[in-house]
Amino acid sequence: MLLDVSSLSKSFGQTLAVSDVSFSVDRGEVIALIGASGSGKTTTLRMINRLIEPDSGQVSLDGKKASEVPAHHWRRRIGYVVQGAGLFPHFSIFENVGITPALQKRSPADIKETVISLLDMVGLPAQTYADRKPAQLSGGQQQRVNLARALAGHPSLVLMDEPFGALDAITKSDLIYDLLSLRERLGFAAVIVTHDLSEALRFADRIGVMEGGHLIQMGTIETLIRAPAASSVSDMLDAARRHSAEVEAAFSRAGPSG
Ligand SMILES: Nc1ncnc2c1ncn2[C@@H]1O[C@H](COP(=O)(O)OP(=O)(O)OP(=O)(O)O)[C@@H](O)[C@H]1O
Ligand SMILES: [Mg+2]
Repeated sequence: MLLDVSSLSKSFGQTLAVSDVSFSVDRGEVIALIGASGSGKTTTLRMINRLIEPDSGQVSLDGKKASEVPAHHWRRRIGYVVQGAGLFPHFSIFENVGITPALQKRSPADIKETVISLLDMVGLPAQTYADRKPAQLSGGQQQRVNLARALAGHPSLVLMDEPFGALDAITKSDLIYDLLSLRERLGFAAVIVTHDLSEALRFADRIGVMEGGHLIQMGTIETLIRAPAASSVSDMLDAARRHSAEVEAAFSRAGPSG
């Protein structure tokens, strides 16, 4: 097991944003977190990354509890991709991707090699893009830089908050393909927040369904279909099935009772 999330809870004033959320992620495994707006997905990621501290519960990574490691060290071991934000506007693309390796005090030659190879892997060759500023890239290209930057510290875990949100269907599809091939090559695990179940089916080993701060169920799509833990899970699956061939195909795979 790589990541263990145990009974995490967080309130903001009267709002119980996350309530008693527990799950674990294996090395190299990809989890999709899905759920309505306000269901606690971002707050869960932010607690895993220690951008906010939980009211109760704990997180451990690679057998180390969060409480045993200073927050800034903890964060360097985890890649974090935030939708539509996060690139430093005055830094070049090269500098943006090289931030974490520089903080890790790796040698300039090592940093250069890492940045160039990651830019290449996400389809932005360094000769063309390394010296540009973020504003000189399209939204989809900036999202690729975000992905490269999140991987530059060689993290064993990457958290992504709606990384494909604002992209057109083709760009999104390309980026998911890139993500899957990067994962194949680099072997990281990921927790990826999405609103779109058919998108989740393309990259996730398991899917976690959040509602009202609770993690209602986490499992393979076949498990969710065969044994939904609540009517909200089956309602979500039925709604997705009506407009997604991928979800319909999962119902067929799950067997005749679906
Ligand atoms: N810093 C904050 N201060 C006060 N309330 C917050 C804060 N962050 C989140 N909340 C509240 O906590 C709840 C969960 O928010 P969260 O951002 O985790 O939802 P989400 O599932 O990521 O939603 P979305 O899909 O819209 O991004 C919401 O009711 C939200 O208003
Ligand atoms: Mg969110």
